[in-house]
Amino acid sequence: MPNNIFTPQWRPKVHFTPEQNWMNDPNGLVYYNGKYHLFYQYNPHGNDWGNMNWGHATSRDLVNWQHQPVAIEMSPKGLGYIYSGSAVVDYDNTSGLQTGEHPPLVALFTHTEAETEIQRQSLAYSLDGGDCWQEYQNNPVIENPGIVDFRDPKVFWHQSTSNWIMVLTAGHSIEFYASPNLFDWTHISGFGEDEGSHQGEWECPDLFELKTDSGVSKWVLLVSLVPGGPNGGSGTQYFIGDFDGIRFTAEHQDVRWLDYGPDNYAGVTWDGRQNIDNRRTLIAWMSNWTYAADMPTFPWRGAMCLPRDLSLRQIDGDFYVTNLPAKEVSDRTQLLNEISGNDTVLTRSLPQDSALDIHLSCEIAHSDKLYIRMYNDAGESVELKYLPQKQKLIVDRSKAGWSYKLWRTPRLEAKTLINTHKLDARLVLDTSSLEVFWQQGSTTMTICLLPTQAFNRIELITTQAGNKALTLAAIG
Ligand code: FRU
Repeated sequence: MPNNIFTPQWRPKVHFTPEQNWMNDPNGLVYYNGKYHLFYQYNPHGNDWGNMNWGHATSRDLVNWQHQPVAIEMSPKGLGYIYSGSAVVDYDNTSGLQTGEHPPLVALFTHTEAETEIQRQSLAYSLDGGDCWQEYQNNPVIENPGIVDFRDPKVFWHQSTSNWIMVLTAGHSIEFYASPNLFDWTHISGFGEDEGSHQGEWECPDLFELKTDSGVSKWVLLVSLVPGGPNGGSGTQYFIGDFDGIRFTAEHQDVRWLDYGPDNYAGVTWDGRQNIDNRRTLIAWMSNWTYAADMPTFPWRGAMCLPRDLSLRQIDGDFYVTNLPAKEVSDRTQLLNEISGNDTVLTRSLPQDSALDIHLSCEIAHSDKLYIRMYNDAGESVELKYLPQKQKLIVDRSKAGWSYKLWRTPRLEAKTLINTHKLDARLVLDTSSLEVFWQQGSTTMTICLLPTQAFNRIELITTQAGNKALTLAAIG
C-alpha cells in the first residue's frame, strides 16, 4: 500500500492512537487526582520515528482518552531528544518543587543528543497536577557514565528505605539508583548480565511488587528486549524475585514472557494508584520494531494495547505474572449475546460497529484440538489453534488481509501454562488488532492484523464434541 493514504478502516475503536503521526513506547504513566496520564514517544512532525518528544493524553476511565498538547518538547538548546522514561507524584514534596496546592509531578526521562547519541537522565516537572511541564534548568540529573545505551528510567517510591528507586537499562543489564529527592542519585546495584534472554538489547524496565490472592508477595522486574522476542523482533521478558531496597535477585533461571504475541513492547505500569487499591496496570506499544516503520496506517502510525491489570499467580508450584484487560475496560463492556452448544462447531456473526470482547469456554480433552477462526467476506481470516497435548497455542495471521506482505513471522506460537479440560479464553478484537487472553490471562498474545474488511464471523471448532459457549460483548 502506498504511503499517505488515509486508512480509517484500521483506526482502533478503543485502543489508544495519536490523532496523527508516529508513536512508540508509553512513557510517564502516572495517576493523580482521578486522572490517568499517558505520555508517549511521539514525532510531532511526521509518520516516521524521529524528533522524539513526549506526546500526552489523559483519561478518567482508561477507555476514553483526551488528546493533550505535547508535554515535554525537545528544545534546540537542550540535551537532545526526549526518550522514554517515567513519572511519579511527589506527595511529600521531597523534591522541594511544590509552590501551590498540587504536589509536584516529576518525570525522569532520557535525553539523547542528536549527533553524538550520548544518553543522560533528565528531569521535568509539573506544578499544576500534570497539565503543564517544564524542564529542570540544570539537567541532566545523571550524567552518562561512558555507556552507549543508558536509558529509560523508571522511578518509584520505596517505602521501607524512604528512597526513590530508579531502574534503567545499560546495554545488557539493569542498573539501580537511589535518591532522597529525585535530583541526587546514587548508583546502588546492577542486575542481569548472566540472567534471562540476551538475544537483543535491553530496554524500558519496570520494577514493582505484586501479591497473590493468598498474600504471597514477590518483586517483578520487566525488561523489554529487541530483537529476541518470543516470536521474533521485540518482546518483554520478566523476572520474579526479591528486591531488598538495594539489590534485585531472581528466583528462576527460565525466560518468562509477559506476552507471546509479536505486538506488545515496552510495556510499563502506572505509578500513583498503589496507595488506593494496590492494582498494577500496564500499557504497551502495540507494534514491533521489525516492521513498525512499514505499518501502512495513516495519518497515524502506532497504537497502544489495552490497559491490563497484572496479577501474580502460582501455577504448578511456580509463580507467574498473568494479565487481563483492566477492570475499567471490563466495566465498560455491554453484553450483546450468548450462545452455547454441544456440537463440534459453533459459529456466530460478529457485529462490525464496536470493539468486541469475546469470551469462550469449552470442554476439551487432552487429545483434542481446538480451532478458532475469524473471517470476512473477502476470504481473509485469522486462525488460532490450541493443542493441549503439546501445551501450544498457534496463531496464523498469514491470511489476515494486507498483513501477509508485512509480517516477518505470520505463524506465531505460545506456550500455555494451564492445560486443564476446561478452557476459558477471552479475545479482544478491535479493527486491526487481536489480543488473546488464554486461561485467565496466563498466556497472552497481542497481534496486529490488517484485514481489508472487518471480520464478520467467528467459528469455534473442536475435533471431539463437548460443551461450548461463546459470549459477545461490545467495549465502550
Ligand atoms: C524502546 C526505545 C527506548 C527509547 C525509545 C526511543 O522502544 O528504543 O529504549 O527510549 O524507544 O524512541
